[in-house]
Amino acid sequence: YLIGIDIGTSGVKAIIIDNTGRVISSRIESYDIKVIKKGWMEQDPEEWWNGTKKAVSEVIKEGAINKDEIKAISFTGQMHSSVFLDENNSVLRPAILWNDTRTSKQCKEIYDTVGGLDQLLNYVSNSALEGFTAPKILWLRENEKQNYEKLECVLLPKDYIRYKFAGDIGTEMSDAAGTLLYDVKNKKWNKELIKKLNLKDNIFPKVVKSTDVVGKINKEVAKELGLNEETLIVAGGADNACAAIGSGIVENSKAALSIGTSGTIVAYTDKNDIKTKGNLHFFNHACNSSWYIMTVMLSAGMCFKWLKKNILKTDKSYDELTNMASEALPGSNGVIFVPYLFGERSPHPDPNAKSMFYGLSSNTTDKDLIRSVLEGVSLGFKDCLVSIENSVDIEEIRITGGGANSQLWTSIMADVLNREISLINIQEGPAFGAAIIAGVGSGVFKNFKSILDKSVKVIKTVKPNKENAKLYEKYYKIYTLLYDNLKECS
Ligand code: XUL
Repeated sequence: YLIGIDIGTSGVKAIIIDNTGRVISSRIESYDIKVIKKGWMEQDPEEWWNGTKKAVSEVIKEGAINKDEIKAISFTGQMHSSVFLDENNSVLRPAILWNDTRTSKQCKEIYDTVGGLDQLLNYVSNSALEGFTAPKILWLRENEKQNYEKLECVLLPKDYIRYKFAGDIGTEMSDAAGTLLYDVKNKKWNKELIKKLNLKDNIFPKVVKSTDVVGKINKEVAKELGLNEETLIVAGGADNACAAIGSGIVENSKAALSIGTSGTIVAYTDKNDIKTKGNLHFFNHACNSSWYIMTVMLSAGMCFKWLKKNILKTDKSYDELTNMASEALPGSNGVIFVPYLFGERSPHPDPNAKSMFYGLSSNTTDKDLIRSVLEGVSLGFKDCLVSIENSVDIEEIRITGGGANSQLWTSIMADVLNREISLINIQEGPAFGAAIIAGVGSGVFKNFKSILDKSVKVIKTVKPNKENAKLYEKYYKIYTLLYDNLKECS
């Protein structure tokens, strides 16, 4: 058996799979985000650790397996969130999370220091976002001088938990990629950038491969959790990389599209020279020494939630609401929804981007509004896909996340993208990918492709309807004009 542990934003998930890649049991232990003030998001790494121990104990109980048969454990988790350690590897302050936006000033400083976006892209292949790790270190230096002076190491959340398990301090490429200090293309810390930013150069841990075995479980933890002392600890990967692995995105021309609270597309590539203009993320993957291009829409499923709560103010279920939407005609009676409720990341990195309903008239109904939200979010995905396909070709799109459960939404998505969409049998997210990494790293699985071909299956494909696709092509043109022409108004 293999265990995957996901240090998520709302909780930790532990999952057990067997040596055929079948899921035996899974368990989530929830915790909260501490909102210190507007835009300041923190969590105590100790809470992750307590949640992890509980989730692992419970998942083993639930799976009713012999603990001695657990061969390896691996990890995944929130990207970019920063854990600051002192010389004793003690946590200096609560972790600052990926969705924290306190560092706009520091992002600007990064651009000013390196000489602009193009230069930063040359260094690390990504633009400076508030949530990334580098601006957080600058923030610490400017605002908590004593903590910066004591700072000996910056870790990512799953690497802190890995340290708790194995006593080994380090990270791996897919999470190093999200720090904005890692040369994604050439796979090494960017010493020149670290020097330019005048950061201490000894605070960045060694970087291994995601599948590297970093040690055995430490004895006390093994005892506390009742695990075998021979259990291997494997490095693991960033949550988006592991989610992609968990959906079988481990070869060229495959992409996963996830409709969760936010909306992501992750497209695999074995090319290291992707030019993104800074509007897409380009990170190291956690398999096959490869990379992925990722787009992030800040509000996808969130738009539907917002419509239900703030506009329709209804207790109806999402199923009931999508049933209503299915009674509206494609095109929502002329209404186009733009989904930038919280600004946007991809393909427009614009915190001031605004949402809107365009084309309302006196005969617009609630059914039209619901359908237009499903269509508008899908148009946002199309906008992302078009940008990704400027760099790589995608032949197969696998849909995941809560939105994938709606038949209407998946068929609208196929029509808007004018692409076939595949549904898969497993929806366990990043934790499943981490368990697969544990298996590849410990030699239980030969390689990623062979185990994923067996365990992750396409169960259905949704084909686009030609007529609707034509209509949505027209809508997409208007959709892009709305942002381009109105951005000056925000
Ligand atoms: C990726 C990102 C989020 C976190 C969430 O760039 O910020 O997806 O990884 O866990």
